[in-house]
Amino acid sequence: MAANVRDALREAEKQLARHNIKMPRNDALVLLSAVTGQRVETLLAHPELQVREHDLSTYWEWLRKRARNYPLQYLTGQQEFFGRSFVVSPSVLIPRPETEIVVQACLDFLATLEKPATVLDIGTGSGCIALTLLCEISSLTACAVDISREALQVVTENSQNLKCDDRLELLQGSTVGPLIGTGRRFDLAVSNPPYVALSDSVEPEVRHEPGQAVFAGQSGLEVYSEIFSKTACVLASTGRLILETSFGQTEKIAQLGKEHGWHEMERRPDLAGIDRCLVLQHISTAGPTR
Ligand SMILES: C[S@@+](CC[C@H](N)C(=O)[O-])C[C@H]1O[C@@H](n2cnc3c(N)ncnc32)[C@H](O)[C@@H]1O
Repeated sequence: MAANVRDALREAEKQLARHNIKMPRNDALVLLSAVTGQRVETLLAHPELQVREHDLSTYWEWLRKRARNYPLQYLTGQQEFFGRSFVVSPSVLIPRPETEIVVQACLDFLATLEKPATVLDIGTGSGCIALTLLCEISSLTACAVDISREALQVVTENSQNLKCDDRLELLQGSTVGPLIGTGRRFDLAVSNPPYVALSDSVEPEVRHEPGQAVFAGQSGLEVYSEIFSKTACVLASTGRLILETSFGQTEKIAQLGKEHGWHEMERRPDLAGIDRCLVLQHISTAGPTR
């Protein structure tokens, strides 16, 4: 059945609201824009435009999925991060705004280095951290590791889209495992590891994201533990480890790091004042304590 933009949006918003989707108007608009290839502004300015029948049937199909809490970004296939567009699929975590705090902490540290630097991104997912750093610093090279082969395929696509595939190396494995014994040393290791405990409940949308990108054992700290115990041997003498920390867990994570010889240099909060990021240096590489 044919419809114009006004009617399609009105019906879609009603459907999503009925299923308690938090921002029904926004989601209805974003999906219609993705389906028709028209900008949101064009749809708002021209409610009389007719939506093609084929687009309309895709639209209703997407709306049915969205009504069951399937993430908007998996339907549109993209997410903005640090001002760039990243391809996302159900194989990768959808990049979150709080991870931009981690990226900024990395940029601030890298700005203090004099020579072209090397970065290791552990649990790269869509590649949003490593690729943003490569885009921001043209002399940088990066290595990105993920346990998921499917995630690395998404990173490859993103690195080609962002034209920095020539400065990125991809490795599959657990944390720094593929680098152990290679003798390689990075100036910076960064990670936003999975950090939800298996017993914790998550938002309905998050249940559609890959389990290994979200959950980390009974405590939620399993991947942090592995990173803390193995990463020092792949860092340069002045190297830093920068970690995203889970909501309300920063103190616990800092303490866990301390037990593995990591000295806390800095904490960074989000706009609500919640700590989201730790900057650490290993005692084996730190200078003499004063
Ligand atoms: C929270 S997601 C973060 C993805 C991306 N860095 C971001 O900030 O959006 C965690 C990522 O770590 C990967 N992962 C989980 N356990 C891992 C491990 N032991 N070693 C390497 N990667 C792991 C998951 O596949 C997932 O891509």
